[in-house]
Amino acid sequence: MSELPTGFWAGWIVVLTLVSLGVLSWLVYSIYFSNSEVDKIHEEVVWDNNLREGANPAPMWWFWLILLSLVCSLIYLMLFPGLGSYKGILNWTSGRQVVRDEQVYSAEFGGSRNAIAEMKVEEIHDYPKAMVSAQRVFDRNCAVCHGYEAQGQAALFPDLTDKDWQWGGSVEQIEQSIRDGRTGNMAPWGDILGAQGVDDVTAYVMSLSGNADTGHPGKLQYDQLCVACHGTTGEGNPILGAPDLTDNTWLYGGSLKAVKTTIADGRNGVMPAFGERLDATQLKLLVALLTVENPG
Ligand code: HEC
Ligand code: HEC
Repeated sequence: MSELPTGFWAGWIVVLTLVSLGVLSWLVYSIYFSNSEVDKIHEEVVWDNNLREGANPAPMWWFWLILLSLVCSLIYLMLFPGLGSYKGILNWTSGRQVVRDEQVYSAEFGGSRNAIAEMKVEEIHDYPKAMVSAQRVFDRNCAVCHGYEAQGQAALFPDLTDKDWQWGGSVEQIEQSIRDGRTGNMAPWGDILGAQGVDDVTAYVMSLSGNADTGHPGKLQYDQLCVACHGTTGEGNPILGAPDLTDNTWLYGGSLKAVKTTIADGRNGVMPAFGERLDATQLKLLVALLTVENPG
């Protein structure tokens, strides 16, 4: 019971609580039942010529109401922890309450949760109730960045519905993205390439999504600096999270300006790790959600 105060402070809380209750009772009692002479010779006070200060007694039902709440407070303090280190007759603790709630929860849902964790994602796809839960887990944990429809946001958080996977689209790879997180590492190339170099490489990279302009001066620099990650034809590398540059799908926007900014200034997208926050069932549900053929 380390969370309950002990020693001096426990005593202090007991004294403070009981004295406050006592003073409150006395105050209420004295208002209703005092025979003070002062009241009897009460002179009528008049403000601003015509505002009279009344001397009506407070209604009696207030008294019963206050008495009732005082009695309830005392009963509460007897049953539950509240008075210093006194644990209360019921010996209730929030820790035990949590344990009890957990037991009720796992008795009710434990079976189906374990079953889901064991299922193949294809089986989960055909299990509508599980897919509803999956959407709920997604809304709660992922929608802030990826959007409620998982369509991505602001050219900063990737679209998860386009089947274009930067880090790989197998069940294992998607699960790893969610469990362990991902950090894209695209260095800034502005200083190395210079302004003209950035323009050239940008033009070349943009041509990769259509008819690759293999005669372009930017290809030379691309072949020196970029192939290691993005591949000779720009096909990308899911192990490094280097995106495919040939598919006309852009994480950070496909305008000339956006691509130029990416190349000159670099990008470091961070997908946080959820392995600590979500359990195996929730991870499995999310993978199932993201691998549905026709989302939505
Ligand atoms: C060390 C590996 C690496 C090298 C070298 C590299 N990139 Fe990248 N590139 C990445 C990664 C990883 C990302 C994704 C960044 C992220 O997720 O935030 C990326 C993203 C990009 C994007 C954004 C694509 C999109 O869909 O928005 C472009 C464009 C790009 N790189 C072009 C280049 C060019 C041009 C070069 C050479 C000058 C280059 N990269 C060199 C790893 C690399
Ligand atoms: C704080 C914002 C944020 C949250 C919250 C977030 N993500 Fe991400 N996620 C990102 C970013 C940014 C990337 C791109 C990382 C990169 O550039 O490499 C990403 C990438 C991913 C990828 C890899 C995509 C690919 O193309 O390979 C998957 C899968 C993913 N997120 C799923 C999820 C799921 C499921 C959740 C909820 C549990 C989630 N994300 C929550 C920001 C977030």
